[in-house]
Amino acid sequence: MEPQKAHSGSIMALFKKPYWVFLFLLFTALAILSVQIATQSIVPFQIFGVSESEKAATVSDPGSCAGLLGELPVRRHVASIEEFGGVGDGKTSNTAAFWKALIHMQRFVDHGGSQLNVPRGKWLTGSFNLTSNFTLFLEEGAVILGSQDPKEWPLVEPLPSYGRGRERPGARHTSLIHGDGLTNVIITGQNGTIDGQGRMWWDLWWNKTLNHTRGHLVEIMNSRNILISNLTFMNSPFWTIHPVYTSNVVIKGMTILAPLNAPNTDGIDADSCINVCIEDCFIESGDDLVAVKSGWDQYGIRIARPSSNIIVRRISGTTPTCSGVGIGSEMSGGISNVTIEDMNVWNSAAGIRIKTDKGRGGYITNISINNITMERVKVPIRFSTDSNDHPDDGWDPKAFPKIKGVFISNIISLNSTKAPELTGLKGASFEGVCFKNVTVLGLAPTAAWHCEFVSGCTNAVFPLPCPQLQNNGSSACCL
Ligand SMILES: *[C@@H]1O[C@H](CO)[C@@H](O)[C@H](O)[C@H]1NC(C)=O
Ligand SMILES: *[C@@H]1O[C@H](CO)[C@@H](O)[C@H](O)[C@H]1NC(C)=O
Ligand SMILES: *[C@@H]1O[C@H](CO)[C@@H](O)[C@H](O)[C@H]1NC(C)=O
Ligand SMILES: *[C@@H]1O[C@H](CO)[C@@H](O)[C@H](O)[C@H]1NC(C)=O
Ligand SMILES: *[C@@H]1O[C@H](CO)[C@@H](O)[C@H](O)[C@H]1NC(C)=O
Ligand SMILES: *[C@@H]1O[C@H](CO)[C@@H](O)[C@H](O)[C@H]1NC(C)=O
Ligand SMILES: *[C@@H]1O[C@H](CO)[C@@H](O)[C@H](O)[C@H]1NC(C)=O
Ligand SMILES: *[C@@H]1O[C@H](CO)[C@@H](O)[C@H](O)[C@H]1NC(C)=O
Ligand SMILES: *[C@@H]1O[C@H](CO)[C@@H](O)[C@H](O)[C@H]1NC(C)=O
Ligand SMILES: *[C@@H]1O[C@H](CO)[C@@H](O)[C@H](O)[C@H]1NC(C)=O
Ligand SMILES: *[C@@H]1O[C@H](CO)[C@@H](O)[C@H](O)[C@H]1NC(C)=O
Ligand SMILES: *[C@@H]1O[C@H](CO)[C@@H](O)[C@H](O)[C@H]1NC(C)=O
Repeated sequence: MEPQKAHSGSIMALFKKPYWVFLFLLFTALAILSVQIATQSIVPFQIFGVSESEKAATVSDPGSCAGLLGELPVRRHVASIEEFGGVGDGKTSNTAAFWKALIHMQRFVDHGGSQLNVPRGKWLTGSFNLTSNFTLFLEEGAVILGSQDPKEWPLVEPLPSYGRGRERPGARHTSLIHGDGLTNVIITGQNGTIDGQGRMWWDLWWNKTLNHTRGHLVEIMNSRNILISNLTFMNSPFWTIHPVYTSNVVIKGMTILAPLNAPNTDGIDADSCINVCIEDCFIESGDDLVAVKSGWDQYGIRIARPSSNIIVRRISGTTPTCSGVGIGSEMSGGISNVTIEDMNVWNSAAGIRIKTDKGRGGYITNISINNITMERVKVPIRFSTDSNDHPDDGWDPKAFPKIKGVFISNIISLNSTKAPELTGLKGASFEGVCFKNVTVLGLAPTAAWHCEFVSGCTNAVFPLPCPQLQNNGSSACCL
């Protein structure tokens, strides 16, 4: 009885305090609320400084990431890799030169920032780390070549949301260009090239002698305000550009190339990232052109870092065994508020693919896909749940993903092989799946939609949709 009395007594005392206490509490609550609102409505976001003219650009050019950049920062300290002993002959290793350069550049992080220029030539190097308030600038004709010595791609810790390397247990090879805990980084230039020379790694994968997960061409983690633009990236050992646990990312005007049979050479993988704008890229590779992910099974569920506020537009390209855009299959931290538009995909296995499975947990919600043209894409739209790909035996068979709100509109697919194939999960149907103005041509007359464990509706689709998605006259459908 006694403690309860004391407790209620203190609550009474609070109510007896002067009214400014309540005002203070009210203002605190309002402040917290407004901060939350400010951090939630982050598309459009601004990644570098905001000038009045750039604000105007944001408003007058809503269909471009350019307005999100703000004024590109001018770096006070500019140097060339040659000043650090670099030799651009394609044979000499520049690993030490890049390390020396980056250690030097770190001095300017809080003193006006820095820019490292890479001139015309072939600059062979092992992995190196970037720094903050920094621009890596590849001049016309500059080619950075990835080392052919695996020891020059040292091992780093696996990502906590994967619990292990994606391909092999334990540590993973670092990326050729790596950034961790940075702000305000630009990788750009006059269409210079970063060539990972990944064949060595693909061979190891093909002949099953890979000891550790392959590295990316560029990985930026735990960072914010990142721009990657106007360059050609080629022959990544593994996924090409991998922003992870990062916010405010613009990837624009990139050409990304890998042989069409090179394993897992995804173009761009936004992974547990908030506020990402990817546009005007040509991508030709052996895996998804663009993928959105957020961690893997019990590890991704525990870390709970979603991917949200993602825009992907004006991407074109081909990937014969994978998809134009892939959402998942790693999505355990959740994926929401994704807009994909104005894409052109040809000669590919799938156009749009949503992949998940039992054990993933997480969610995929509020996905909007609009104005995609496909030519000779086998399955233009595919939802699948059969990946059966788990980090270890510790995955939870009861961890069902929740998929709700996928809006697909204005799609034309020519010379397709199959009608949409939509397979949800038994016990966790995909809900609110809406197709509007979707035309799939070139099919055999017997080709039919395949739908299992999905619900939603359709409006103006060809061929005739499966019964699960037939509108049945409901006017609220597919708004
Ligand atoms: C999705 O967008 C809406 C509207 O802009 C916003 O309220 C919501 O917080 C966003 N979701 C996430 C997870 O950012
Ligand atoms: C980078 O530069 C900005 C603006 O000059 C400054 O506010 C910031 O402290 C610098 N350092 C880092 C790590 O961002
Ligand atoms: C690069 O960053 C990683 C952490 O992301 C760290 O393990 C590694 O030691 C760094 N390398 C250098 C040369 O600073
Ligand atoms: C950049 O170079 C690539 C590869 O040479 C080329 O395909 C692409 O058209 C070039 N991009 C621009 C904008 O010139
Ligand atoms: C695997 O590929 C590497 C790299 O090409 C090659 O050196 C090695 O001989 C291959 N091993 C086997 C068992 O085929
Ligand atoms: C993989 O491990 C084997 C055995 O330890 C070793 O001989 C080989 O060099 C390693 N390969 C790579 C690419 O590190
Ligand atoms: C890309 O290059 C073009 C042409 O040089 C330039 O106008 C534009 O500002 C660059 N964009 C970015 C985002 O770097
Ligand atoms: C869905 O995401 C879009 C951005 O992709 C956003 O504008 C919209 O408000 C979101 N809707 C909800 C209900 O979160
Ligand atoms: C559809 O996307 C294409 C690029 O693939 C673009 O040229 C066209 O303007 C877009 N249409 C609309 C109505 O936005
Ligand atoms: C249907 O989608 C196609 C392909 O994007 C587009 O050309 C056409 O204008 C759309 N029709 C309507 C009625 O919106
Ligand atoms: C592709 O589609 C066009 C128009 O429907 C048709 O004329 C052509 O024969 C098709 N090509 C193939 C290889 O199916
Ligand atoms: C529409 O009717 C079909 C056939 O009667 C049924 O299987 C389906 O569930 C209905 N769809 C909706 C969205 O109510």
